[in-house]
Amino acid sequence: MKILILGVNGFIGSHLTDRILRDTSWEIYGMDLGSHKVAEHLDNPRFHFVEGDISISKEWIEYHVKKCDVVLPLVAIATPKVYVTDPLRVFELDFEENLRIIRQCVKYKKRVVFPSTSEVYGMCEDSEFDEENSPLVTGPVPMNRWIYSTSKQLLDRVIWAYGFQQGLAFTLFRPFNFMGPKLDSLNTAKEGSSRLVTQFAWNLFNGEPLNLVDGGVAHRCFCDIEDALDGLMAIIGNEGGKADGKIFNIGNPGNDASVREIAEMMIEIWKEHPFRKERGIAEGSVVETSSGDFYGKGYQDVMRRTPSIKRLQETFGYSPKIGIQESLRRTIDFFIEEHKALEKVVETEA
Ligand code: UGA
Repeated sequence: MKILILGVNGFIGSHLTDRILRDTSWEIYGMDLGSHKVAEHLDNPRFHFVEGDISISKEWIEYHVKKCDVVLPLVAIATPKVYVTDPLRVFELDFEENLRIIRQCVKYKKRVVFPSTSEVYGMCEDSEFDEENSPLVTGPVPMNRWIYSTSKQLLDRVIWAYGFQQGLAFTLFRPFNFMGPKLDSLNTAKEGSSRLVTQFAWNLFNGEPLNLVDGGVAHRCFCDIEDALDGLMAIIGNEGGKADGKIFNIGNPGNDASVREIAEMMIEIWKEHPFRKERGIAEGSVVETSSGDFYGKGYQDVMRRTPSIKRLQETFGYSPKIGIQESLRRTIDFFIEEHKALEKVVETEA
C-alpha cells in the first residue's frame, strides 16, 4: 500500500512514520516544511520525503494523490493560542488548503483518513462524547477559539457528504489530547503558544511557575501517543473495510485529570528528576492566571472532554494501556533530551 502523509514531520505524522516503517511493508510519500522528527528514516527506501508547503507545492500533491492508495492530510494549526490570535490563518490552512486535497481525493477516487478533532464536540455536556450522537457545541462568533473547531467540523461534514453523494471512501478520526515525545516544540513553548504538557515542560526547564488558566479546573483525558497509534494504525489498515465511512474517537477515558492535577504530577516528576538536581533548577510551582491575560479576549474553554471509545474498541479491539504518569514521564524525558541536543548545537555554533 502507498500512503501519502502531508504533515509527515508533525507530532502524529512522525510517530505514524515510525510505526509504518517498523510494522508494515507500506510505502510512505511524505511532505512537510522540515524533517527533523523523521530524520532517522530519510535513508529508508520505503520513505520518500519532500520538503514543501502544502499551500505552494500543489502539483506535487495532486500527482501523489493520484499515485497513492490512502491520503492522510495531517497539516493543521492545532494550538489554541493561535486560534485566538490568528483565526484567519487557521481557517486558510486548516480549512481551505485541506478542502482542496479532499476534492482531489474525490476526483481520483482515493481513500482519505482525515484528522478531525476532539474540539468539534466543544462545550458538549455529555459525560462521554459519542461520534454519531453527541451534539457539537461551540460559542459565539467573537470567541475566536471556535474557528478551529468549526473549520474542522465543516470539513467533517463535507467529507461525509462526499461519501454520501459521490462515494468517497473515508474515515474520520478524532484525537483526544494525545501526548508523548515530539508533541509541539520548545520553540512554540518559548512563545507561550504551545499545548499544555509542552508548555509546562518548558516552564519547568526554565524555573518558571506553571500558569493555571482560570484556576486549572478544566479536565482533559490524555492519551499516550503509542496507544493512539494502535488505534490509528488499525483504522488505516482497515481490515475488512470496517473503518469505511466511519468516525472514531481515539483517546483514553481512563486518563482523566484536571489541569491542576497535571501540573502537580509534572512538578512531582520534575522535583525528583536527576536532570533538575544536576542543574539546580527550581522544583516547580504554580501560579493562577486569567484566560483573558493568558490567551486574549477570544478564548473560551472546554471544561470536560471525555471520549467514548466504544466504537474503536468494538471494531478493532482498541484498548489504551499507558497511564498518565508513565506518559508524562516519557514526555518530560524526551523534552530533556531535546533540550540537551539544542544546547549542544548552540555550543557548537558559538
Ligand atoms: C487542544 C487543541 O485545540 C487541539 O490541538 C486538539 O484537538 C486538542 O487539544 C486535543 O488534543 O484533543 P486543548 O486541550 O484545549 O485543545 O489545548 P491545551 O493547550 O493543551 O490546553 C488544555 C487546558 O490547559 C486548557 O484548559 C488550557 O486553558 C489549559 N492551559 C494550557 C493552562 O492552564 N496553562 C497553560 O500554560 C496551557
